[in-house]
Amino acid sequence: GRVLILAGGLSPEREVSLRSGGRLRDALVSIGVDAELVDVDADTLPALAAERPAVVFPVLHGTSGEDGTIREVLDLYDLPYVGAVPAACRVAFDKATAKAAVADRGIATPASVTLPREAFHDLGAAALIERIVARLGLPLVVKPRAGGSSFGVSRVEGAGEVAEALMACFGYHDCALVEQAVAGMEIAVGVVDTGDGPVALPAVEIEPAAGRAYDYAARYTAGATNFYTPARLAPAVLDAAARTALLAHQALGLRDLSRTDMIVDATGTPQFLEVNVAPGMTETSTWPLALAAAGLDLAVVCRDLAARAHS
Ligand code: DAL
Ligand code: MG
Repeated sequence: GRVLILAGGLSPEREVSLRSGGRLRDALVSIGVDAELVDVDADTLPALAAERPAVVFPVLHGTSGEDGTIREVLDLYDLPYVGAVPAACRVAFDKATAKAAVADRGIATPASVTLPREAFHDLGAAALIERIVARLGLPLVVKPRAGGSSFGVSRVEGAGEVAEALMACFGYHDCALVEQAVAGMEIAVGVVDTGDGPVALPAVEIEPAAGRAYDYAARYTAGATNFYTPARLAPAVLDAAARTALLAHQALGLRDLSRTDMIVDATGTPQFLEVNVAPGMTETSTWPLALAAAGLDLAVVCRDLAARAHS
């Protein structure tokens, strides 16, 4: 039967999702799978219900795609899909609950606090910022509590920059996650289940251009960022990173695929930043890169994921 790839939508990651979904569709079609890309809007679900695809592959990033919403609706229509179930997505997509869940399993994650927009606006921004800086120190990373592709994320070196960073963040989400900025190597570790349970893919080292952050442009402009696969780390650290990604996948009850982003700190400890339940599949995304490095074919792996979701 047909594989319907859900992409697009209305999150800030719409364009990224269309690129991910288009690549996946082309890959599947190239090996003879009947796959179609559907740009998610209000007409999508009635169309899905009428057409009854064999399986749905959500490549919808961000809110509704990764927070469980769209999958709740797929459950309602009894449509099988690739990836985690709604309850797991809810916990994983919220960076604060995801960090708490993995910390419970002994995984290191940078110290952080959450700050709702209402508190910032109504209870005295200056005092709250002072308290946060006293608690966490500097530098800090301010990010939307949920969201992807670095939208609304700022690194803050001085206390005087925190208010502006929070306001930028509140443009994307009504709650901020303020995290200690850990110095070290940024890595992404994909997880995939090819039928024998989840396995970690080789860690991808992310090296943005000198002095630049791994921001939206660095993520999605070809050649803007150097990737090293496997990451240039000692074998024991690579093992620890693989264990962290697998443990996060399992602790959060994820299914089929995920990607955990981490910083390897100065002691060689991988610190959990976040997990993605619908990792990017664009030409510059790290999950497909890691698959290729493991000798796995994106089309074949995704065809098999779809086949197992259906069965
Ligand atoms: N949220 C983007 C798509 C990613 O993390 O890959
Ligand atoms: Mg993300």
